[in-house]
Amino acid sequence: MRHHAGVTDHDVRVLDDSEYRTAHSLFRGTLHHPPAPDDQWEFVRESYEPGRAFGAFADGEMIGTVQSFPSRLAVPGGAVVRHSAVSRVGVRADWTRRGVLSALQRAQLRAMRSAGDVAATLRASETAIYGRYGYGVATRYRFLTIDRRKAGPLARPVGRVRLVEAEAGERIAWGLFEELSPGRAGTIARWPAWWGLNFTRVVAEQNIKFAVRSGGTGGSGDDGYVVFKVVPGEHDSSEDKPTRLAVLDLWARNAEAWADLWLFLLGVDLVAEVTTFGRPLDEPVEWLLGDRRACRVAEEADETWLRLLDVPAALSARTYRASEPVVLGVRDAYLPENAGSYRLTAEGVTKVDDEPELILDVDVLGSTYLGDVSFSTLAAVRRLDVVNPDALARADALFAVSEVPWSGTFF
Ligand SMILES: CC(C)(COP(=O)(O)OP(=O)(O)OC[C@H]1O[C@@H](n2cnc3c(N)ncnc32)[C@H](O)[C@@H]1OP(=O)(O)O)[C@@H](O)C(=O)NCCC(=O)NCCS
Repeated sequence: MRHHAGVTDHDVRVLDDSEYRTAHSLFRGTLHHPPAPDDQWEFVRESYEPGRAFGAFADGEMIGTVQSFPSRLAVPGGAVVRHSAVSRVGVRADWTRRGVLSALQRAQLRAMRSAGDVAATLRASETAIYGRYGYGVATRYRFLTIDRRKAGPLARPVGRVRLVEAEAGERIAWGLFEELSPGRAGTIARWPAWWGLNFTRVVAEQNIKFAVRSGGTGGSGDDGYVVFKVVPGEHDSSEDKPTRLAVLDLWARNAEAWADLWLFLLGVDLVAEVTTFGRPLDEPVEWLLGDRRACRVAEEADETWLRLLDVPAALSARTYRASEPVVLGVRDAYLPENAGSYRLTAEGVTKVDDEPELILDVDVLGSTYLGDVSFSTLAAVRRLDVVNPDALARADALFAVSEVPWSGTFF
């Protein structure tokens, strides 16, 4: 593709494997990191797959890059659709604001849709970047800080939580994650190189622990795991250097296994503070504690930015609550074949010629898609055009979900 942007031209094309390391170093440079050392690169190179990395070039030099990983996305109702996880987005500092990312996005969105992906997601470094390309915030997460000594949980364990060695821990975690995670809408499948980069490599470098839960009322098998890391401070309850236990990954088959894992974490001696990476908004940690004020939400933030690549396929993949039909009008500047009117009913979705009752850009539809935010809320902040005000309640009712969506996989 040839893209004319002001003074200079640049080309965008798919990279081949001789170019991946240059692309990775370029990306890291845009985040102000040095290139990956050789031992890290061994893990990173596995995550470059044919056809999934793009580069922008000017005068024979790479000036920008984007990439994606093959994955699946769980949607409301239990279906799982083809999905790409977009990452490693960067444009060299001397080439920004000349349309390079827009050219890369255009090529990548087209390629992902042509390959049959229904949706793409990403994590945004800054919120101003991705809306224009059709990505909307579709899940949020919260980071918790728990004063362990104050927490005083009242519940007693039901099953058994055991510590396991790294190799077994990784194997059990991988298996349980694949089995359990699609149960919640918003979760994504982790590609093999994700485990290599985020588990195997990190376990080798850091003091990572695995705990596995079994023996609950549901049977004797393993039904939950937690991956965590303790960073020792001063063990005399010093305020300046508390010993911290960081929860990195926690999945459980049911509430009983979930509570046992948390009771285990809160019972680890000499730990002053338990912190978590981004957890679902509806995880009831504070309700487990004797003193709910021991649990603080350190941060609540946007997690998934969702781009519906194939709007009819995405709308048909999820289920809807019983309600009267609504006609949505969708706008999509980058993938115009998605534009048009869609009639949604509890039974299914059809593209129609009817006048839309609500008109919205594809990023706004992405925000509503997993059920995290309602059409009424987005209408209140003027993110959609309301042709027929009655349609808001119908759209809200159709899209309503009983469990808050959450991804739980950072990439
Ligand atoms: C974010 C980044 C890739 C944007 O690349 P770029 O080539 O400058 O983007 P473009 O020139 O195609 O920008 C297109 C539009 O988005 C806007 N935009 C892009 N990045 C923006 C940002 N960080 N903040 C605000 N606006 C931004 C541009 O102003 C432009 O708007 P316009 O069309 O109204 O003029 C680049 O700034 C970068 O590499 N940043 C550091 C690394 C990073 O944050 N990567 C993302 C990791 S998730």
